[in-house]
Amino acid sequence: MGAREVGLPTRSVPLESFYPQRVTIWEVGARDGLQNEKSIVPVATKLEFLGRLADAGLTTLEATSFVHPKWVPQLADAEELLAGLERRPGVDYPVLVPNERGLDRALAAGVGHIAIFASATESFAKRNLNRTLDEQFEMFEPVVTRALAEGLRVRGYISMCFGDQWEGDVEPEQVHRVGERLLDMGCWQISLGDTIGVATPGLVEDVIAGFDEIDRLAVHFHDTYGQALANTLTALRCGVSTVDSSAGGLGGCPYAESATGNLATEDLVWALEGMGIEHGVDLDALARTSAWMAEQLGRPSPSRVVQALTG
Ligand code: HMG
Ligand code: MG
Repeated sequence: MGAREVGLPTRSVPLESFYPQRVTIWEVGARDGLQNEKSIVPVATKLEFLGRLADAGLTTLEATSFVHPKWVPQLADAEELLAGLERRPGVDYPVLVPNERGLDRALAAGVGHIAIFASATESFAKRNLNRTLDEQFEMFEPVVTRALAEGLRVRGYISMCFGDQWEGDVEPEQVHRVGERLLDMGCWQISLGDTIGVATPGLVEDVIAGFDEIDRLAVHFHDTYGQALANTLTALRCGVSTVDSSAGGLGGCPYAESATGNLATEDLVWALEGMGIEHGVDLDALARTSAWMAEQLGRPSPSRVVQALTG
């Protein structure tokens, strides 16, 4: 069943200039989604998932992480996954890399695009990376230098941009300082992570407004309090045009217990479609993929759009 068939209301007036004409979707389901599953999903299932996401028109598929296998056993199969991956033309398959050991592994696997992941707070830097805030940059510095020298692209994530479960409020200036350091290091884009899903639109504006180069920002909202789509639309109005989301709303972070799934890609696509913003995704194929993945995982997708389209 298609969006049109179920009566998705679309705009009859032209887009207001403050929304982008097109949004790039950075699909994180195979990484952020599956890293948080209690069970370990077989490589063959992950490969089928990535293939179906590409079939649905997604062109950036964050595939896995080269982190310590004991820290995230769900992604310990990163080498096997990349060896079996049929790389589609026009599809980018970035991976997470925290340190030089991770970079060695990613290079050996033929990766062309990596993402380092920093924290805006001391507490989460310690819990997620076993480093202080300053030490995380010492860890990233040689990774970025070498990756750029090897011709790779490097994205930077910042976690806990809108609140931290151990420290409470996070000052936007703290996020800006971390972001500037990542940009200075050579990251081409910074993704602002609401790791535990506590952001609301006013705060999103405050954090984004402090950056000089808004066109180099992406947003990454988890949907713990149901605000991820509202926050995303706010970010789009502020000038951001890359949005991280996960098929079916899979996701979370194993080192932040209150993190639930990401903004569901289907929820995002439904909104973009209705607003007349280009996204390039076949919503029906995507929703069927998420329904299939939910079956593999043995529980329904939390995405309301997936439920509505496939229920
Ligand atoms: P550590 O224990 O401090 O590591 O962990 P170390 O540097 O002391 O090394 C200890 C041993 O681990 C060494 O082996 C290393 O070789 C090995 P030994 O010499 O003892 O035999 N090692 C590795 N092995 C394989 N691959 C590696 C690797 N690194 C070291 N990459 C470390 C530090 C960073 C490795 C660890 O803390 C880690 O893996 N953390 C990753 C946690 C993670 O993946 N979290 C989820 C992703 S972030 C996220 O989800 C947030 C995001 O979605 C945005 C948002 O929502 O906010 C991105
Ligand atoms: Mg995340």
